[in-house]
Amino acid sequence: MKIGIIGAGDVAQALAKPWAQAEHSIMLSSRHPENLEELAKSLNVHFGSVKEAAQFGDILILAVSYWTVDEAIDQIRPEIEGKLVIDTTNPLKWRQGGGTERVIADHLIAGEVMQEKIPEARIAKAFTTLWTGFLRQHAHATPRVAMTLAADVEADRHLVAGLIEQVGFEPVDLGTLGESRPLDPPSPIWNVVLTANELLARVATFRATL
Ligand SMILES: NC(=O)c1ccc[n+]([C@@H]2O[C@H](COP(=O)([O-])OP(=O)(O)OC[C@H]3O[C@@H](n4cnc5c(N)ncnc54)[C@H](OP(=O)(O)O)[C@@H]3O)[C@@H](O)[C@H]2O)c1
Repeated sequence: MKIGIIGAGDVAQALAKPWAQAEHSIMLSSRHPENLEELAKSLNVHFGSVKEAAQFGDILILAVSYWTVDEAIDQIRPEIEGKLVIDTTNPLKWRQGGGTERVIADHLIAGEVMQEKIPEARIAKAFTTLWTGFLRQHAHATPRVAMTLAADVEADRHLVAGLIEQVGFEPVDLGTLGESRPLDPPSPIWNVVLTANELLARVATFRATL
């Protein structure tokens, strides 16, 4: 599969490495692609501008900070008609004095907000709930650590589940974007290392409070 990654930071690298090893064709991108040559070589992936990655990918991974997401979307919009965009972003900003805070209203769901921003593409949410350090530490653990996903189209959920397995995690399908509130921060599964059964129990309890 040809996967264009918008971003080349922590999340982009954590996903590009196992997917390149699984023989997908990957392109990392940034606003400064000229700086990516060495990194791309070490990961055995292509590199390019944000527009080039959006053109390259049959599917796209959105892996930029939330505060730059609108700028990134403006750059990729002409290339994404009908494509699947797997959104890894969390609607957070750094708080002065430390920590992060949510930047969308409490009643909103990040996947639905993103789908409204990019109506010409199909949004899936995945890879939002675990810090990349955990992705590296717990890949292929026994038992497998859970990774949540959501998308409105069933075939997209299957595809994303396969990509999660290739990163070494157990996919847990939370359903449609409208059902995906548990994978947004704050939630009792966000950035917690859990098996699928542990995660599903927490999701059920959390959903009962919504
Ligand atoms: N880090 C984690 O553990 C983790 C885990 C789960 C989810 N997330 C979420 O994943 C997203 C990415 O996080 P990260 O930690 O990978 O961030 P990061 O390491 O800061 O990387 C962000 C990347 O986006 C690029 N970028 C920034 N603005 C851009 C724009 N307008 N257009 C194109 N590329 C742009 C940056 O490159 P240039 O500055 O060179 O353009 C950089 O390569 C965030 O929304 C975060 O909330 C992070």
